[in-house]
Amino acid sequence: MLSRSPFGEQYEYRINATQEQVRLQEFTANPRKTVVIQGLGFVGTAMAAAVANAKDASGTALYNVIGVDLPTEEHYWKIARVNAGLASVVSTDASLDAAYKTAHAQGNLTATYSPFAYTLADIVVIDIHLDIKKKQLGNARDYDFSFDRYKEAIMPIAQRIRNNTLVLVETTVPPGTTEKILYPMFERIGRERGLNTSTVHLAHSYERVMPGKEYLSSITNFFRVYSAITPEGKRVVRDFLSSFINTNDFPLTELHSTTASEMSKVLENSFRAMNIAFMQEWTEFAQDAGVNMFDVIQAIRVRPTHRNIMAPGFGVGGYCLTKDSLLADWSYSTLFESDKRLEMSLAAINTNDLMPNATVDLLKSALPDDWKSLAGKHVTVLGVSYLNDVADTRYSPTELFFDACTKEGATMQLHDPLVSYWVEKKLPVETSLDALSTLKHDVAVFAVRHSEYLKMDANQILSVLQGVRVVVDTFNIISDTTAEALRKAGVRVVGVGKGHWMELV
Ligand SMILES: NC(=O)c1ccc[n+]([C@@H]2O[C@H](COP(=O)([O-])OP(=O)(O)OC[C@H]3O[C@@H](n4cnc5c(N)ncnc54)[C@H](O)[C@@H]3O)[C@@H](O)[C@H]2O)c1
Repeated sequence: MLSRSPFGEQYEYRINATQEQVRLQEFTANPRKTVVIQGLGFVGTAMAAAVANAKDASGTALYNVIGVDLPTEEHYWKIARVNAGLASVVSTDASLDAAYKTAHAQGNLTATYSPFAYTLADIVVIDIHLDIKKKQLGNARDYDFSFDRYKEAIMPIAQRIRNNTLVLVETTVPPGTTEKILYPMFERIGRERGLNTSTVHLAHSYERVMPGKEYLSSITNFFRVYSAITPEGKRVVRDFLSSFINTNDFPLTELHSTTASEMSKVLENSFRAMNIAFMQEWTEFAQDAGVNMFDVIQAIRVRPTHRNIMAPGFGVGGYCLTKDSLLADWSYSTLFESDKRLEMSLAAINTNDLMPNATVDLLKSALPDDWKSLAGKHVTVLGVSYLNDVADTRYSPTELFFDACTKEGATMQLHDPLVSYWVEKKLPVETSLDALSTLKHDVAVFAVRHSEYLKMDANQILSVLQGVRVVVDTFNIISDTTAEALRKAGVRVVGVGKGHWMELV
């Protein structure tokens, strides 16, 4: 069978359980402890690199690291890349690639599809995803959630681990999961298997990993929160985290329970989502009042208490901010049987999910007088990922915008320096700016603050996007000087939060 990676390679694979067991036994036949990381996605990829590069005082690698992912067409390539000494995430962080090369050369990092890996583990880190699906954007109260697949994925761990194993949950989960769902499962299965379950430590600690230029460092050089079911578990997980995190500069925070640690994660993300959503109505107010919201934000940020006020933007994407409040809401009403809901957090999710529609309206307000609508117009969107200098396209705001313009009859063209294929839409994406100059452009929308776009001046915009009549800046990508030069060339320029440009359209 073949598995195609987003890097363009194809890997052939066959499952041979016996051969894989022998290989893994040989891999761990040394005095090092073995850490098994379940899930080689955005989080697991960086965790595997961080843990495989952990060293003792004499500079010797501390752990054997085995990454586990699925032997499917969609995922097998991650296993193959790790085994070739390559990271399984498209990243602008050169230190991640270097960490993979080092671990490959020192021979202490491998990946497998075989659950046999769990029998060899001293530590298992769970980095798989747990989805919660909104039935409809704009109605976050109504979602589908089930633990069934997650429990199915964890079961092989409970069925295989030995005594004296640390199981560290890093998945973002509804608060209460480790204590109320996973702990009883590990206890029951452990007892059935004759394990001394008091030596199996269940813990939770959450990632604050930021894909981008500081991807790996956001694991090793950043603060961490953790907890465990028992005091001994807290000690064990603290020792593990301290072995690969720079805790001198970034001390760990221990919380009293795993539920508190899980709540800390979803509250942290809900707070950020709320801060972004809050700005949306003010952004529209500023546009209508002729105010440059970015100047206003700068003026407010001088107050130490207000430094993290968010700037206007296109929308909120990615895997975490779009769903974590829903996991918390589910927990409150289901695991803690409350009839209350997390109303403000859910309202923020709704605002954020629908935010790209405001850019559609802004664009429509700037159409030249000789256009009746967007029908038949060529709309070029610069930026498909959800975040600057990151290739992740999950829940990108570009998607809603793309759909809305397509519905209006526009012909959509896509560019992103880091994304050559948009998985969610199954569409190719142009990665070269120069290649755009051969296309027709009526509208250009700067949707992501990629470094490449921030460097563009009016001359480059006009030469790459030849014939463009309307430019929309969704994230303060274009300066006032560039906007002025574009206007002089006959282009209409509007921007999210740029009220001071409105009267010039
Ligand atoms: N992406 C981030 O920046 C980020 C940051 C902090 C926390 N988180 C949380 O971390 C968790 C993982 O997120 P992610 O972005 O890495 O997700 P992801 O979808 O990129 O990765 C999950 C990986 O787990 C694998 N997987 C699924 N079931 C498996 C199984 N049974 N056995 C082995 N592998 C399996 C998938 O194939 C995939 O490669 C989520 O709960 C997320 O909310 C993510």
